[in-house]
Amino acid sequence: MARYEIHGSNLLSGTVTISGAKNAAVAILPAALLVSGKCRIENVPDISDVRIMMDILRGMGAKIESLEGSTVEIDCSQIQYTKPDDDLVRKMRASYYLMGALLGRFGKAHVALPGGCNFASRPIDQHIKGFCGLGAEVDETEDYVALSPGPEGLRGDRICLDMASVGATVNIMLAATLIPGQTIIENAAKEPHIVDLANFLNTMGARINGAGTDTMKIRGVNSLRGGTYAIIPDQIEAGTYLAAVTAVGGNVLVQNVIPKHMDCITSKLREMGANITNYDDSIRIMRTGRLRQSTVKTRPYPGFPTDMQAQICVCMALANGVSRLTESVYETRFFGYCTELQSMGANIRINGKTATVTGVERLYGTSVSAHDLRAGAALVIAGLAAEGTTYVENIHFIERGYENLVEKLTALGADIRRVED
Ligand code: EPU
Repeated sequence: MARYEIHGSNLLSGTVTISGAKNAAVAILPAALLVSGKCRIENVPDISDVRIMMDILRGMGAKIESLEGSTVEIDCSQIQYTKPDDDLVRKMRASYYLMGALLGRFGKAHVALPGGCNFASRPIDQHIKGFCGLGAEVDETEDYVALSPGPEGLRGDRICLDMASVGATVNIMLAATLIPGQTIIENAAKEPHIVDLANFLNTMGARINGAGTDTMKIRGVNSLRGGTYAIIPDQIEAGTYLAAVTAVGGNVLVQNVIPKHMDCITSKLREMGANITNYDDSIRIMRTGRLRQSTVKTRPYPGFPTDMQAQICVCMALANGVSRLTESVYETRFFGYCTELQSMGANIRINGKTATVTGVERLYGTSVSAHDLRAGAALVIAGLAAEGTTYVENIHFIERGYENLVEKLTALGADIRRVED
């Protein structure tokens, strides 16, 4: 098993380039199933979740070619209906997007229930509600979901989500793009990757309005044509590097970002003492003095993202004073990393949805284990800031979502190595 060995306390300096957004890529790749033609997709991150999604699509007959840089060409025009490979589907969370994409393309789907990061109970009742709302008949067991047209066939309708679920919004968008009539999603998720998926589908000929607001309208079209599309930069990868500089100290230019997407994160890091300047598509961050305590509550976009909870917790662990961190999306997300941070000397007390973090002067290196992707990223940041050597185990979680993490951090002056046993 591979792990990271980190010798901490080196300040970070230089430039880091952010890759394409994971959570956009894992929605846009299955969306290519809806397209009758070649899609040229740029800025595709080379991470394990994307590689698994491409393997699933290849297994279903998609022709996928990796071109120069991070461009992928994908042609699903000739494929026949095929059930996606169960074992591959169970390796990642976003494989449930195959349900919406297959329902939209073939009017049916049989997909195993997904795997991925299990930091909380992650039900899919809102996805199912969406499919039923579009006229599908749903057969759901402990192992799979099977979808087929109900007695009146598939057609657009008004679907009101009980919560602004990213996954359910994506699945309904995928299913509704090619079915007749108008679909209205009320209480739709507004995350940047939702808007990116809508922009991709519209570039290929879909008619989606209102992405990025609470109400999205999708007018079904007969077919989508091929085209070229570039995925947006990864908000959470960029936030992770910004949090790393905040925790460790230094002076870094984070490039290939959309600064507007970063406001919910940078406003908090500024409050804690980081000096941040936005440019057109980059952000400079400097941090020298001791950090100040803060109060953060995670919320759906445009709030502070749950996917940055663990990383900002490391900053709080090193700040002067008592911080409060409240999780409102996934209650059990603290358990993936707080015990590990405590073993490095952090003072964190969890009470229900809130962690009270009393800052300490220093963290100390030890052996810690990643339990999910963002928890793992936080442990890497803690290791970079800590005195001594930190070993981060279970790094396959981290490699699901961070492209060239070791190379990018090394270029910033960090002492981090990937070690194979
Ligand atoms: N929920 C339900 N029923 C549903 C769907 C969601 O109760 O049918 C609840 C969830 O349990 C959660 C809340 O609604 O409490 C929000 O879940 P959402 O559906 O928005 O999350 P998701 O689609 O499963 C995506 C990202 C996650 C990110 C969340 C929240 C992808 C592939 N995953 O998950 O990303 O944490 O949105 O922003 O887009 C990550 O990148 O590390 C990651 C976990």
